[in-house]
Amino acid sequence: MLFAALTALAATGAQARDLAAIQKAGVIRIGTNAEFKPFTYYEGSTMKGFEYDLGNAIAKKLGVKAQWINQPFDGLLIGLNQDRFDLVISSHGITPERQKAVDFSNPHYCSGGLIVSKTGGPKTVAQLKGKTVSTQIGTTYVSAIEKQLGNRAVKTYPDNSKALQALMMGRVNAMVNEKFYALEAIKANPGQLQQGDLMFQEKLGMAVKKGNSGLLKAVNTALGTVQKDGTYAKISKQWFGQDIRCK
Ligand code: ARG
Repeated sequence: MLFAALTALAATGAQARDLAAIQKAGVIRIGTNAEFKPFTYYEGSTMKGFEYDLGNAIAKKLGVKAQWINQPFDGLLIGLNQDRFDLVISSHGITPERQKAVDFSNPHYCSGGLIVSKTGGPKTVAQLKGKTVSTQIGTTYVSAIEKQLGNRAVKTYPDNSKALQALMMGRVNAMVNEKFYALEAIKANPGQLQQGDLMFQEKLGMAVKKGNSGLLKAVNTALGTVQKDGTYAKISKQWFGQDIRCK
């Protein structure tokens, strides 16, 4: 349903701001779902995170300032196609289905969906058979869980904090989420949560409106530049203690 809506919107072809218009305005509007530590999240009223720093570094290479707009995750690509943002940076897995609706940059990192459970709980797909798993609505984790455990296994939540809360309260047997988000959650709940297997791997990319090729090219060039000049490595090490670019 969601993807049919996305594709329909892509076809209406409302005018997206091209690179020249963005540079003339001096501002690029970046959509994100900022409750995803350590990618984009709020500390008080300040946005922070790896993707926040990377997005700002890319904006700088484009010669503009970044204006960040926080939105629920499942509305981000729709918002992009409605021209509410110029760019979306929110850990989107590059999938064929999404590629019908938007254009993705080269991957800005590689990661996957990790199983997290309470200490002593299920850690593998095999151990999760017949059990329930929480995750955020609209994500690639939903389809991965459905595919590997069946439609009835998955319990979706609008926010990651709610998906985590469901696990903490014992309403589900496990949560599947972005590897680094999950590791952060484990760290934040010492002695209570454990890391299970990686359920699948994915490449994460930034999205522009379908056909906004000048902007896409500039974003790819900027990403390439920050990956070469040490900026990316510095930001990545600061947030993860390692370089998470795709190898
Ligand atoms: N990688 C997953 C996906 O592509 C989840 C991303 C969730 N991102 C977020 N900022 N909440 O669907």
